[in-house]
Amino acid sequence: MSNPAIEQKIKQLTKELKEHNYRYYTLAEPIISDFDFDMKLKELEALEKEYPQFADPNSPTQKVGGGINTEFVTVKHKRPMLSLGNTYNEGELKEFDARVQKLLGTRDYSYSCELKIDGLAISITYINGKLEKAVTRGNGVEGDDVTQNVKTIRSLAKNLQGNFPAELEVRGEIFMHRKAFERLNTERESRGEQLYANPRNVAAGSLKLLDSNEVAKRPLDIYLYHAISDQANFESHFEALENTKSWGLKVSEFSEKCVNIEEVLAFIEKWDAKRKDLSFDIDGVVIKVNRFGHQEELGFTAKIPRWAISYKYKTEAALTQLLSVDFQVGRTGALTPVANLQPVFLLGTTVKRASLHNANEMERLDIHHKDWVYVEKGGEIIPKVTHVELSKREANAQPVTMLESCPECSTPLVRKEGEANHYCPNEYSCPPQVVGKIQHFISRKAMNIDGLGEETVELLFKENLLRHAADLYTLSYNQVIGLERMAEKSATNLLKGIEDSKQIPFARVLFGLGIRFVGETVAKKLAQHFKNIDNLAAATLEELCNVDEIGERIAGSIIEFFEQESNRKVISDLKEAGVQLQVSEAENQAPISDVLKGKNFVISGVFSKFSRDELKNLVEANGGKNVSSISSKTDYVLAGENMGPAKLEKAQSLGIAIISEEDFEGMIGGQNPPIAEAQSTLF
Ligand code: IVH
Repeated sequence: MSNPAIEQKIKQLTKELKEHNYRYYTLAEPIISDFDFDMKLKELEALEKEYPQFADPNSPTQKVGGGINTEFVTVKHKRPMLSLGNTYNEGELKEFDARVQKLLGTRDYSYSCELKIDGLAISITYINGKLEKAVTRGNGVEGDDVTQNVKTIRSLAKNLQGNFPAELEVRGEIFMHRKAFERLNTERESRGEQLYANPRNVAAGSLKLLDSNEVAKRPLDIYLYHAISDQANFESHFEALENTKSWGLKVSEFSEKCVNIEEVLAFIEKWDAKRKDLSFDIDGVVIKVNRFGHQEELGFTAKIPRWAISYKYKTEAALTQLLSVDFQVGRTGALTPVANLQPVFLLGTTVKRASLHNANEMERLDIHHKDWVYVEKGGEIIPKVTHVELSKREANAQPVTMLESCPECSTPLVRKEGEANHYCPNEYSCPPQVVGKIQHFISRKAMNIDGLGEETVELLFKENLLRHAADLYTLSYNQVIGLERMAEKSATNLLKGIEDSKQIPFARVLFGLGIRFVGETVAKKLAQHFKNIDNLAAATLEELCNVDEIGERIAGSIIEFFEQESNRKVISDLKEAGVQLQVSEAENQAPISDVLKGKNFVISGVFSKFSRDELKNLVEANGGKNVSSISSKTDYVLAGENMGPAKLEKAQSLGIAIISEEDFEGMIGGQNPPIAEAQSTLF
C-alpha cells in the first residue's frame, strides 16, 4: 500500500471504531460482534505501530481497555442537586431544631434520620419504569452522564416494578463496601499496583472509568434517599421512601423516624458507637424534616435547604508540617509520592510519613512545600493527608509537583490515559523495578523461596549476580558464600530453597512472573485454562478474552509481556532450570463427584461463606455446569445477597428453584472446593 492509502486506511478504521464505541457504550446498540471489533482494533494498532505519523492522538487504541471511547456528556439537572449545611456539634443541631420549630410555629413535626454514606451522589431518572439516565452531582447544576457505568451496579433495578410514576427521579449514594475495597486492594497489592486510598475514592474513580466492563468488575452498591416525581403526591419523605422501596429500589434500612431532637441525638450517638460495625463507611447522619408540607414552609436559603442538615462525625486528626516529599518507584514502575512529616502523635502511634498517592491527589490537596497539613487515620493503616491548613502557608511557597523523570534511572515518566499514576517505562533496567520484580517472584504467594529475603535480593542485585528471576537458578555456592551475612549454613539454605522452588506449581510461577494485572486468581485461571506457558504465550487476544473473567485489559497486558524478547528469554531460562511451566497431573483435577451431573446453575449475588469463584469451582467439580444467564434450561439459581430483582423475577416466572449457599452445600454433601485457597474474584 502507498503512504496515502495507508493514511486513508488508518483514518477510516479510526472513524469506524469510534462509531462502534459510541454504539456500544452510549447507545448500547452494537452492530458488530466484540470479536470483529477486536480484530479491527488490532489491525489499527498494527498500522499505527508501523506508521505512527498517521495515528490520531485520540485513536481508540489509546483508550483504557484497548478501544473504548466514551466521552462523558455534561447534562443539566432537571432540579438542582443541592448540598446540605453541616454541623459538628450538639449545640448547632439544637439551634437548627429551634429554628425549624420557630419557622413552623409548632412542635408537631418529625425528622427522618439517615446514615450519611461516604460515597458519591447520583441522580437517576426512570421513564415508564425504565432506567433512562444517571448523572453525577457535578457542580449541583450540571453533572456527567454516567448511565452506562451506573447500569453495572447489580443492586440497582434497571426496570421498576409495581405502581411507579411515569417519570421518576431518584437520588442516592453510590459507594463500595469496605470488604470489597480491601479485596480490591489486596489484589492490587499482589499485582504490585498502587493501593487505593479509601472506598469513596474507588467508587468515584470507578464511575469515571471509560470502560463499563471494567466498572462491572468493581462491586459498587447504592442506597437511594430521595424520590421526586411530578406524578406522585406523597405526604412525607418517609412515605416517598416506602414507595421507592416498593418499586424495587434499594433504600437504606437504617433510617429512623424521630419525633424530637432528643431522639435525633440518640440516633446520632447510637450510630457513632456502631458505625465501625457497618459494612460501609459513613461520615455522619442526615436529618430531614419529614413532612413535605413542612419542607415547603421551611424552604431554602440561597444554597441549602432549611429543612435538612448533616451532622458530621469527628475523625481524629493531627496538624503537622510537611518536611519533604519522596517519590518511590514500585516494581511495576508506578511512582508514589510520599510525604515526610514532622513526627506527630495520633491515636497511639507517631506518624512520620503519609502517602500522597498520585498526581491527582496532590492536585486535589493543592499541597505546597513546607505546608501545614492535617493527617487522619481512616479505616486504613497508612495515615492520609486530608487537607492543607492554608492560613499557615508561607508567602512564597511553591506547589509540590510530580517529577518529570524517574528518580532512580532518570527515564522520562509516562502517564497512560485514564490512569492516575505516572510510570517509569524503563521496566528492564530501572533498579527498583528489576529488584522489585525478583522480590515479587520469590514472595510467599509466588515461589516462596526459603532462605531468601528481600534484602538478599537487593544484595545479589548490587553484586551483579541477579538481573532476572531466572538468574537465581544459576547461582553457585561459591558466588554466595562470600556475601555479607552469608555463612555456610545460610548459603546452603538459600541454594536448597531455590532448588525446592522448582516444585512450585505452574499457577504460582505464573503469578510470580509479575505480568501486569495478573494477580493470584487470574494466574490460577490462566494456568487451568492453558495448561502450560507455551499455550499461554501463543494465545491470541480473542482466546485470552474467552477465559472466564479475563478482559481486554488483562489480555492486552499478557500479549505485551510475551512480545518482549527479554521476557521470553527469562521463560526459556526458567524452563531449562526445571521450574514448573505446566500444570501437573494433580492440578488437572479429577471431579470430586457427579451429584450435580446434567444440572445447570446460575450463580448470582454476594455470598458470605464462599466466593463466587469457589462456588463455580464446586459446581464443576461435582459434575454440574455454570451458565451465565437464566433461561428455561437453568435448573438452579444459587442466590446470594443483593441478587438483582430482575433476575429474581425471571427465575420465579420460569419456576426455577432458587437455592441458598447452605442449600447448595447440602446438595453436594459439604464438599470443599477443589482449590481450597481459591481467592474471591467478585471483581
Ligand atoms: S440528602 C437536599 N441524604 O451527603 C438534600 N444526602 O451534602 C441533599 N449523602 O451530596 C442530600 N447520605 O452525597 C442526603 N441519606 C442521605 C445522604 C446524603 C449521603 C451525601 C450526598 C450529598 C451530601 C450532602
